[in-house]
Amino acid sequence: MEPNNTPPILNELFGLHDQVAAVVGGAGRIGRVLCRTLSQAGAQVALLDVDIQAARDVADQIARATSRQLLAIETDTTQPEQLEAAVAEIERSLGPPCMLVNSAQFRGQGFYSSDVESYPKSAWDRVLDVNLTGVHLACQAFARSMAAHGGGRIVNIASTYGVVSPDPRIYGDSGVNSPVSYAASKAGVIQLTRYLAVHLRERNIRVNCLVPGGVFDNQHPQFVEQYAARTPLGRMARAEDYRGAVLFMLSPASAYMTGAVVTVDGGWTVW
Ligand SMILES: NC(=O)c1ccc[n+]([C@@H]2O[C@H](COP(=O)([O-])OP(=O)(O)OC[C@H]3O[C@@H](n4cnc5c(N)ncnc54)[C@H](O)[C@@H]3O)[C@@H](O)[C@H]2O)c1
Repeated sequence: MEPNNTPPILNELFGLHDQVAAVVGGAGRIGRVLCRTLSQAGAQVALLDVDIQAARDVADQIARATSRQLLAIETDTTQPEQLEAAVAEIERSLGPPCMLVNSAQFRGQGFYSSDVESYPKSAWDRVLDVNLTGVHLACQAFARSMAAHGGGRIVNIASTYGVVSPDPRIYGDSGVNSPVSYAASKAGVIQLTRYLAVHLRERNIRVNCLVPGGVFDNQHPQFVEQYAARTPLGRMARAEDYRGAVLFMLSPASAYMTGAVVTVDGGWTVW
């Protein structure tokens, strides 16, 4: 893609022209917005997701809207050999990936209980598997390729609930709540990021972490109201609110940044 007519300083700081990016969990609510953003910034984007139909649909939607093609690959991020195969396919089809965003999360059966005393071990295992082990495995697979081709940038997506506890009082009878497994997995992602930043520095790989707040998704109105009331900026997030921070962490603008935890939460964690 030709650099566009934007001021040269913006291309210098934020342009990703024809660099190759992978978004794991790219069919999700935040993942799809990030895929589109990276594509619009000029990157060749591979969208990895366990839900291949959703991945293809998202890739098609973005292609229709932007005239830019994305590569959808069915990948279960808990399976190292599937990640290896995905990296090989990206190298073959688009070239070596130099950017990775880890955006997958588990939200299946048993997930939503917040009853600590009876939280099912099966749900705990699955959440930790996808949200934490999956991030580690994806970083491993992509770091090997990045290291072999001169380096790269990784952004892991954690959560405010990896920094502070959810406030159970805002969930009420909404039927939605945030479980212990999620909090533990997201705290793990933050520390994994710091560890990798140190241990991949000599491979010229920067690793940073986004801490997002809750995205509005037609949740129970009482929950939305209470969440907004507890947020200094007075509303839940839109997935689009995270575009700038992720683009920054992947672009030359953040060349002197690694191991950072970038909080974009409307102020949720400041009080
Ligand atoms: N949405 C929010 O309110 C919010 C708030 C804070 C943090 N986050 C974090 O941001 C990230 C993205 O959130 P989202 O709202 O887009 O999530 P989402 O649930 O909408 O999407 C997650 C995606 O991950 C995929 N996935 C699940 N298991 C997988 C696996 N084993 N291998 C590969 N892909 C798998 C799903 O198919 C789905 O497309 C997540 O890490 C989430 O924890 C989200």
